[in-house]
Amino acid sequence: MKALSQLELERPALADPPSVLLQRFTASFEYPVIFTDGVFAPENATLADALGRLEPARSHRAFVVVDDGVAAARPRLLAEIAAYARAHQARLRLVAEPVLVPGGEAAKNDPDAVARLQARFHEASLDRHSFVVIVGGGAVLDMAGYAAATTHRGLRVVRIPTTVLGQNDSGVGVKNGVNALGTKNLFGTFAPPFAVVNDRRFLETLSPRDRIEGMAEAVKVALIRDRPFFEWLEANAGRIASCDPTAMELSIRRCAELHLAHIAGSGDPFEAGSARPLDFGHWAAHKLETLTAHALRHGEAVAVGIALDSRYSVETGLLDEDSLERICAVLGALGLPLWDDALSRADESGRPLVLRGLQEFREHLGGELTVTLLGGIGRGVEVHEIHAEALGRALAWLRARAART
Ligand SMILES: NC(=O)c1ccc[n+]([C@@H]2O[C@H](COP(=O)([O-])OP(=O)(O)OC[C@H]3O[C@@H](n4cnc5c(N)ncnc54)[C@H](O)[C@@H]3O)[C@@H](O)[C@H]2O)c1
Ligand SMILES: [Zn+2]
Repeated sequence: MKALSQLELERPALADPPSVLLQRFTASFEYPVIFTDGVFAPENATLADALGRLEPARSHRAFVVVDDGVAAARPRLLAEIAAYARAHQARLRLVAEPVLVPGGEAAKNDPDAVARLQARFHEASLDRHSFVVIVGGGAVLDMAGYAAATTHRGLRVVRIPTTVLGQNDSGVGVKNGVNALGTKNLFGTFAPPFAVVNDRRFLETLSPRDRIEGMAEAVKVALIRDRPFFEWLEANAGRIASCDPTAMELSIRRCAELHLAHIAGSGDPFEAGSARPLDFGHWAAHKLETLTAHALRHGEAVAVGIALDSRYSVETGLLDEDSLERICAVLGALGLPLWDDALSRADESGRPLVLRGLQEFREHLGGELTVTLLGGIGRGVEVHEIHAEALGRALAWLRARAART
């Protein structure tokens, strides 16, 4: 080993080129997304197995967070969780009573919600080997996931998504976050979960409208990635629209698979670059959600955004008219909207307000504006500019179509 005095002598002089230590490592992540039926039925070992996946011989400490909308829809849920823990006590131990948190966007809008949960985690002496099991819609998964990711720099999280969007999209991915300073998802982290358990039974207490809206994400991902899946959706739209459980489950499963494949295979799981293919239809959707004060659900706004960007793809010569008709037909058959009057709103100079969504989209994602359009069914195409005139024609076309149907 060199003596300190020798190292001192070797120190580069100020005039030398900068001396750089290059740090480089890769980290690999793995988590199962498990499909089950009745996750808290005492005879169902799925959750206990998921917690014990790395250390099966231990009894794991778990803290459960529950969306109060889910608890209200299933009044026996908390008792079922307690009974489940008793039945599997050799492998899992509840360190506190399950905590109920407000469901929906309120969970992400309350500036104190994260701090309250972090305090509960601390009181329960959770450490980095303890589990936070989150049962809820995408908003509660986002908020409680953020609280868990920022306690001891990351507790283990098992997500149990209870909405279609949670099961086929948000709950299977790597992001969490809360809204702050008037900005959606301003604070958040990338934090892959320890495991995800999709229980189809939770979907039974959702209204038909809420079950269908999450299907817009399936149409989205099929259109940019998977033509056979789009064709399957075309053939099964009627079954999905009537909430046939098997058709719903198949669609959720394929959609989740495509999202997972994108995260693992895109080369950019933590979204450092500018491309966001999974945000097809979303620049307008996010703006429409705000313009309608959330009267349009996220999935409904995405359906309108898909219709708009598909027509824009035709206007700019990327997509053919027949494909567009098929896209509109499948959205319609699912019971999703293709138009909302908020698209007609304009500023004093007559410029559609929805266009502001493009700037907001770029600001949230950073880097160069990158919008995914369609070059065909199953084939996303990235562009870096949206022409106001062609977009105006696309809006006019959609408005006229909505007036006819
Ligand atoms: N992290 C991500 O990658 C990601 C991706 C997409 C969306 N999101 C976020 O997800 C959120 C939307 O999530 P969502 O669509 O799942 O809705 P949600 O979480 O807003 O829930 C909607 C309502 O349904 C209730 N609910 C949930 N499950 C229920 C059930 N089984 N039965 C009855 N009621 C139930 C909730 O209490 C709430 O009132 C948004 O905040 C969005 O930003 C996150
Ligand atoms: Zn979405």
